[in-house]
Amino acid sequence: MNPLHDIRKKFFDYFETRGHRVITSSSLVPDDSSVLLTTAGMQQFKRYYTKELDAVQDFGSARTVSIQKCFRTTDFEEVGDDTHLTFFEMLGNFSFGPVGTDDPTDYSIQGYFKRSAITWGYEFITSVLGISPERIYVTVFEGDERTPRDEASYAIWHNEIGLAKERIRLGSRQDNFWGPTGAEGPCGPTTEIYIAPSADEALAGKGVEVWNIVFNEYIARMTTGDKQEFQKVDQPGIDTGMGLERLLTITEGKQNIFETSVLRPLMDTIRIHMSHVPERDIRICADHIRGSLFLMSDGIVPSNKGAGYILRRLLRKIIALKITHDVHVDIFHEGQRMVEELFGNIYPLIRESERMYAVWKEEEERFQESIAGGLKELTKRKEISGADAFHIYESYGLPYELIKELAPPHATATMRQEDFDAEFKKHQDISRAGVEKKFGGHGLVLDTGELKARDSQEMDRVMRMHTATHLLQWALRTLLGETIHQMGSDINPDRMRFDFNFDRKLTPEEIQAVELMVNERIKEDLPVYYKEMSKDEAVASGALSFFKEKYPETVKVYYIGSPESGGVVSMEFCGGPHVERTGHIGVFTITKEESVAKGTRRIRATVA
Ligand code: ALA
Repeated sequence: MNPLHDIRKKFFDYFETRGHRVITSSSLVPDDSSVLLTTAGMQQFKRYYTKELDAVQDFGSARTVSIQKCFRTTDFEEVGDDTHLTFFEMLGNFSFGPVGTDDPTDYSIQGYFKRSAITWGYEFITSVLGISPERIYVTVFEGDERTPRDEASYAIWHNEIGLAKERIRLGSRQDNFWGPTGAEGPCGPTTEIYIAPSADEALAGKGVEVWNIVFNEYIARMTTGDKQEFQKVDQPGIDTGMGLERLLTITEGKQNIFETSVLRPLMDTIRIHMSHVPERDIRICADHIRGSLFLMSDGIVPSNKGAGYILRRLLRKIIALKITHDVHVDIFHEGQRMVEELFGNIYPLIRESERMYAVWKEEEERFQESIAGGLKELTKRKEISGADAFHIYESYGLPYELIKELAPPHATATMRQEDFDAEFKKHQDISRAGVEKKFGGHGLVLDTGELKARDSQEMDRVMRMHTATHLLQWALRTLLGETIHQMGSDINPDRMRFDFNFDRKLTPEEIQAVELMVNERIKEDLPVYYKEMSKDEAVASGALSFFKEKYPETVKVYYIGSPESGGVVSMEFCGGPHVERTGHIGVFTITKEESVAKGTRRIRATVA
């Protein structure tokens, strides 16, 4: 049997025997709009943990098991090393409570908790997969001022499983507390199973994290004061996740994920046509071809926003690598055939080859067109300094990284990121001066289309209102969810109006909370500043744009707050101008909240 299918089957069988229902992977596009893509197996089950839905009613058991398609963008930069991927599959078992006996020999459909989850995890790894206990160590949450140490898990590992103390390490919140996905939802301490290449390395803590077992003992909620609060739940749940590729590295005795049976055939297919290319770039191609096909198979198409932008980024990276390494064979096509062969039986959507290939082709043509001018410029030059790179970037939209990748290496020998950044800053200062000059004229001293003012006093007021609208949008999104965005706004020296999508009236408490949140940010006197960047870069950075607007290739992104001031609060595409610090806004007051159209609310507010 194909080892890959073997491990899938073993996992399902093991948990099915123990009362779990096998649930098909959900789409990479989650129904939870607070997250862009599916990043974990528990996501499709979020509402079972919160008890909005009932698992026994829907699945016939409070226990489920799945192998979930996942996609993570946080690991983008690390793709190509031995352990990171964008797209991967996650094996997981779940329990939604109420907790029954929590006896690992209880194979019923009742919920379970730490004893069963830990015992089964350990047994699956050691007995079913046959991994020597000598190679194993685990981590347990050490506790902090927000939530206590997970003593129960420690005791189970030590007293019941019999793991020596040297094999139980304590980990911080960073490593041993999971979730929520988005701002709110189930979360809790974790215990993680690590596997090392040898017994000595296990004792030295030099292994790979293989299985993350999460105890959903808490629900995170945002308070009106904009703090994340953990509420202990009555009926805790279990959420576990084990990356298939990493697990295979161990069971198949390989050095890295790309050598495993799930990726190796794809690597080999690509390598035939890229034998002259560094290993890391071949790995990136394999990851990106596979990842983009899975995104497309769930209906995502390239665009400049959200998930579509992630897909575009993957495809463009493949194209850039083809160009850089002078690869003329259609590696995407070759790779696609292999991905279909490897996954067609498990994920039938991946067989829609013609449609997906057409998407790739169109993106390739489009990208080639858009960078053709920039490429020509790169090959014309003998030497490209950091400052030159900035001008190429400004004229052709080629980001620094791509210039570095695409220009002949000898030409960029003296190119430095610092010089690029310095030129960037100079450019910013010049355009800032331009705005100031505009203010000095007669009649309307300020007319950006959005903002108008007749004298410096009015200008001061519209700028304060303007910055306040950015804070307002931030507060609404923080409180009501990231699906909220601006539908329109209107500012004059006396008041501002801000329209946004939302399908019900705000409660008086919510209005008060929004007002408070804005005023708190004002009191913190945060810096307000902008950077210019290519539209693509701005979108990728997650800056908010106003969908009705058509933006030029180079845009300004306004920031409120900085890492030094405790973090960036707001990032928006915006022409400005704004006040320099939030403290200058004064007191922000909401005067009215009303409906303007179905699904659109309007807030009227002023500053004093
Ligand atoms: N939800 C947990 C994770 O993704 C298991 O790691």
